[in-house]
Amino acid sequence: MTGPDAGIAGRVVRWHASHGRSSLPWQNTRDPYRVWLSEIMLQQTQVSTVLGYYQRFLDRFPDVARLAAASLDDVLALWSGLGYYSRARNLHACARAVVQEHGGCFPASAAQLEKLPGIGRSTAAAIAAFCWDERAAILDGNVKRVLTRVLAFGDDLSQPAAERALWKRATELLPQEPADMPAYTQAMMDVGATVCLARNPSCLICPLAPVCEARKLQTPLAFPVKTRKTRRTAQSLWLLRAQDRQGSIWLEKRPTPGVWAGLYCLPVFDSREALAAALPARARDKLQDGPAFLHVLTHKDLYLHPVTVDLATSALDRPEGQWFGSGQWPRLGLPAPVRKLLAEG
Ligand code: ADE
Repeated sequence: MTGPDAGIAGRVVRWHASHGRSSLPWQNTRDPYRVWLSEIMLQQTQVSTVLGYYQRFLDRFPDVARLAAASLDDVLALWSGLGYYSRARNLHACARAVVQEHGGCFPASAAQLEKLPGIGRSTAAAIAAFCWDERAAILDGNVKRVLTRVLAFGDDLSQPAAERALWKRATELLPQEPADMPAYTQAMMDVGATVCLARNPSCLICPLAPVCEARKLQTPLAFPVKTRKTRRTAQSLWLLRAQDRQGSIWLEKRPTPGVWAGLYCLPVFDSREALAAALPARARDKLQDGPAFLHVLTHKDLYLHPVTVDLATSALDRPEGQWFGSGQWPRLGLPAPVRKLLAEG
């Protein structure tokens, strides 16, 4: 290797051989279906959470054709609890595109993968590197942190020009040898996830410490620079837990768009008054308020207020909804907080 950055790729590839993760179920395979599925599940979700979901998904949908042939309802049901449900909707759309437009084979380049639903530039590069040794750079949130620190890259990443410049640097730093791409890509992810932590970086055990500019400056926490942060908001929602005499619960399919689009949910209201107004007059003084609880989304804190009411089966008739008995709940795609409310009874 030559050039001023020669040390970086070599260091992380060597580190990966002794310290990187190498026995996760989606490693040691070059099957793009398995690699793609794992990369989508691992976006914003920890390895420990993904493990069980990944195996259940593969048992049910062992290849892209089976996934494409499934209904979106079945896919959402299996995804239920993983969160970020647009990933599941895109996963299903992507499987159908691979079958209909590519004869059931994932296209074998990052540039083509990126055109498929739900596959961004970094995910496309990860799949292409893992499956075909393509020299394509990944740049997810963790890797941005590693690279901006190693390079002391101080430009503001909320500016598109800075983001473009960092992609360029990431591409220049790739190993020259294509065969090193899988180890390099995994190592960059692992350094970001386990060593170069946002608030508490373990510089003493970092393979990049000897060449890290931020460490030299003693300011790793100053990187990455991002001035325009997405503002967190808070919202209160009231969830109607209507049950009939058999213990069935009224659930409605959530409309698109929305975080829970396509999932089955308790009827949702912006206020307790709106919830009460949706019920027959005689039911309104029989409402039982449960304890409110917090459900955290990426950009929003949701305060959920469950309200239970016992009704005759015929007393509720709203579009997009029906009564579901407890035997049916396990097969439905439900948001995690709703599944929890149903389980609590
Ligand atoms: N996050 C995204 N992709 C990953 C991978 N392949 N291994 C571990 N964490 C990841």
